[in-house]
Amino acid sequence: MNGTTVVRLVTRDLRFIGFTIGLLATFAVACFSEHETTAAVEGVCSVELGEGLPGSTVVVINRFTFGPPEVRVRAGDRVTWINCDPDPHTSTADGGEWSSPLLATGQGFSQTFSAVGDFPYHCEPHPFMIGRVIVE
Ligand code: CO
Repeated sequence: MNGTTVVRLVTRDLRFIGFTIGLLATFAVACFSEHETTAAVEGVCSVELGEGLPGSTVVVINRFTFGPPEVRVRAGDRVTWINCDPDPHTSTADGGEWSSPLLATGQGFSQTFSAVGDFPYHCEPHPFMIGRVIVE
């Protein structure tokens, strides 16, 4: 897997969220390929994965919500947000620990969590969009 790997998330199959990127990539190849002919109509989120992303916990932004809204990771783990909405969103820590740029449709953002803690976050343009990363 390298920087050119593309994960395709079919919006109706978002029950797979929360799986690691590695598993997601496997599912993308194994399970989602059959949907690709209809994906253009249903809406597909394609994201290029940077190096080191395998093993990342994925949060999908869809319909103005972070899914899953709460993730638990270990110190040193990475969380990747992927925007599958037509509207731009951010992942912005309430405490200022991180902030993504505005993510357009299909764009992702990764953050490594080195310290144990409880990190609530929100979307900058839409403060009602909230989530939480718990680092154990
Ligand atoms: Co938003």
